[in-house]
Amino acid sequence: MRGNMKPIEIVKGLYDVGVSDWNIRDFHGYSTNQGTSYNAFLVLDDKIALVDTVKKEFSDQLIENISKIVDPKSIDCVISNHTEMDHSGGLPRIMHKIGEDKPLYCSKMGAKHLARHFPQNLNYHAVGTGEELSLGNRTFTFLETRMIHWPDSMFTYLKEDKILFSSDGFGQHYAGYEKFDDQIGEEILEHAKKYYANILLLYSPLIINLLRKVTDLGLEIDIICPDHGVIWRKDPGKIIAAYAKWAEQKPEKKALVIYDTMWRSTEIMAEEIAAGIADEGVPVRPIHLRKYHRSDVMTEVLDAGAIIIGSPTLNNQLFPTVSDILTYMKGLKPKNKIGAAFGSYGWSGESIGLINNELKEMKFDIIDPSVKIQYVPDEEGKAACFEFGKKIGKAVNDLLAE
Ligand code: FEO
Repeated sequence: MRGNMKPIEIVKGLYDVGVSDWNIRDFHGYSTNQGTSYNAFLVLDDKIALVDTVKKEFSDQLIENISKIVDPKSIDCVISNHTEMDHSGGLPRIMHKIGEDKPLYCSKMGAKHLARHFPQNLNYHAVGTGEELSLGNRTFTFLETRMIHWPDSMFTYLKEDKILFSSDGFGQHYAGYEKFDDQIGEEILEHAKKYYANILLLYSPLIINLLRKVTDLGLEIDIICPDHGVIWRKDPGKIIAAYAKWAEQKPEKKALVIYDTMWRSTEIMAEEIAAGIADEGVPVRPIHLRKYHRSDVMTEVLDAGAIIIGSPTLNNQLFPTVSDILTYMKGLKPKNKIGAAFGSYGWSGESIGLINNELKEMKFDIIDPSVKIQYVPDEEGKAACFEFGKKIGKAVNDLLAE
């Protein structure tokens, strides 16, 4: 809710009519500790267009916001850049309000996907890359961005104003009264990084191609309006450059020792391994999986050069939180990393092999042999962990020297 505030006019005749979701803390498994926003944009010209909608529960607020600028019935067309329901959930309500015969522009895939979400017979107009839609003096150009991050995703570019409506791209889960990058400063980049690491990382090769395509097309971008978080108007080049860097997945001099523990044995090992890595001059952080949310862990994973995973053996298996992070991480396809496994056990000790299997599937460079200690690490065991850490630290230094 943004209360009685009038929707913000981004440039003349272009308004953000979206909503803030201040209290959401779990966005399908992603920890949104500062909420999020569902941005939607009203473009006024001879014709009036609405770009994207909001989550279903916020439909009334969207209509209220639009009503502060124009009568919603005067909207001539709607553009849906992406079918996921945080942006399309409001469509049935808004189409009902403005007239279900009004054209709804979306990608070809979008027309299929929206129809699978909403039973109404809506007036879909499927558009492809390069197609244009004139509002009179303003023109939209569409650019399909398949699999970034759904098969139906597309960007919409407002030609005369050089404004890119980028759907989830360049977004951040952040709710605030600051609506522009220049109002919040550098801290927003951390939210953008978390968004990239948890939503877009696996599409990095496609993002590299997309950024190349945008350059080849000579698309001049003065403002980027994403569907979540703040609008990039001061320096849109900064977030584009950050995407280019994150998509490249160049490892940095940084290691993470990610673990869980039952009776502190694996934790003692984690601390010794981290100390060994630090002794080689590599910044490192032990990460206890019941103290960090998986989406915060993944943000750290994005640019780390080494990922070391520790788990006790529990009922011949991994500790559940360790399975969770490995499954999550594998799906997001991080690349160019050193991997290593460690853990304590009582009598069977399968955890190490299970971790290494996952790290191999992720094509990490595995540091062998792993360190496995029965019951409680003694001084000799601790020294072995420290030395293992030093070996990992040296490998990180070698990797960066290549
Ligand atoms: Fe913000 Fe993919 O929806």
